[in-house]
Amino acid sequence: MEQSSKNPIQVIAVTGGKGGVGKTNVSVNLGVAMSKLGRRVTLLDADLGLANVDVLLGLKPQKTLKDVLDGSCRLGEVLLEGPGGMNIVPAASGLQEMVKLGPREHAGLIGAFSDIAHRMDVLIIDTAAGISDEVVSFLCAAQEILVVACNEPTSITDSYALIKVLSQRYGVQRVRVVANMVRSDEDANAVYDKLQNVAERFLDVTLLHAGAISYDDHLRRAVQKQRSVVELYPTSRISGDFMRLAAQVDGWPIPASATGHLEFFVEQLVRDVRSS
Ligand SMILES: Nc1ncnc2c1ncn2[C@@H]1O[C@H](COP(=O)(O)OP(=O)(O)OP(=O)(O)O)[C@@H](O)[C@H]1O
Ligand SMILES: [Mg+2]
Repeated sequence: MEQSSKNPIQVIAVTGGKGGVGKTNVSVNLGVAMSKLGRRVTLLDADLGLANVDVLLGLKPQKTLKDVLDGSCRLGEVLLEGPGGMNIVPAASGLQEMVKLGPREHAGLIGAFSDIAHRMDVLIIDTAAGISDEVVSFLCAAQEILVVACNEPTSITDSYALIKVLSQRYGVQRVRVVANMVRSDEDANAVYDKLQNVAERFLDVTLLHAGAISYDDHLRRAVQKQRSVVELYPTSRISGDFMRLAAQVDGWPIPASATGHLEFFVEQLVRDVRSS
């Protein structure tokens, strides 16, 4: 097996409970924005749904994680180059198998990630909507859980349900909340305050405010062109929001312990699923 990499890598899983709240767009544009700050970003698409990362960015994956697990290629060969030089591990059917692996394959997967660890500072994981075991596995394995929520009742309710499961069933102690599609500061604060109110009263979990992303039509236009908004419309309001989010994320402390290592992420990923 390859020599393990020991550089601490920031592992951030992006979630939201509800579909269509902007998880994929936040993952992609946070990634591009962090690349602009000089961080080496890998984006792992953990959503097999329709509007996934490769579709959003007009990429055509040739090889997938499935090929890596079959032993027919290395993870480095699966990576696609995304905007800003970001690396993308595209969604693949192999992903579902990834969380049901036997011990030998675990070692293979850890080795596969170790193989590309030296090329990254940040791993962003775009997860599917909902609270499936698979989604929860990715969330619990990451150091940071970034919940994307909008100021609408269903998004707040679904985010709360997700945070509750993470807290009560999986012992997650801290999540960060980013408000998306906000039309005002009040809108942004309302998202955080509503979640904070219920979480504080009923759950033993710390919610941290990670800022807000404006509602901006530039994003829709970028989506139509299969480009990231940060790259296509760098001076738009929403791109400024993503740059601010990226600067904030860049300042989050990375634990010096094993949790800062990519191997730990993969080990946790596998362990959590098997024990759930
Ligand atoms: N800040 C925003 N401003 C304007 N439109 C937005 C914004 N964020 C998201 N959208 C719109 O919402 C759509 C869905 O976003 P996205 O695909 O990122 O959501 P998702 O949470 O990943 O969805 P899914 O649950 O299907 O994976 C986008 O295509 C875009 O049209
Ligand atoms: Mg998505």
